[in-house]
Amino acid sequence: MTEPDFNLLDSQLRALLCDESDSLASAGIFVALLYHAIDDINWLGIYVLRGDELVLGPFQGKPACVHIEIGVGVCGTTAKTLQSQRVADVHEFAGHIACDPDSRSELVVPLIIDSNLIGVLDIDSTSISRFRAADQEGVEKLCATFCELQSTRDQFI
Ligand code: SME
Repeated sequence: MTEPDFNLLDSQLRALLCDESDSLASAGIFVALLYHAIDDINWLGIYVLRGDELVLGPFQGKPACVHIEIGVGVCGTTAKTLQSQRVADVHEFAGHIACDPDSRSELVVPLIIDSNLIGVLDIDSTSISRFRAADQEGVEKLCATFCELQSTRDQFI
């Protein structure tokens, strides 16, 4: 398995989004860039905060559950705590929502603009313990860049 070059991805993300003012298109590009750069994953996408729930946004992978309550599952826990969740084995995570029974480990990172939660980035793998601390750190930095590039926009998606 080749580890992603997060610095290169950061440069690519900035280059791809620097002139793009549409947040939906930007989110689609972000998701596609990461999905094709990270090995051994089967799903990657954004859940957008809409009112008091998360709603499925741009993603790559199989169709997934559309609505997630805040505080429920790995994504809802991330949205509630505003802390990334790196789950080595989703079968051990109480309340995990199994969109794809093949998924075994998961990394979810909150997307925050100007101190406001706008959604979460969710990545799934069929391998147990797929995500290392370095993956979490790299993905968190990319999410921060993505949010930085959105921050002048009035509305996200
Ligand atoms: N497993 C997630 C649900 C989303 S899917 O993985 C795409 C969760 O527990 O929140």
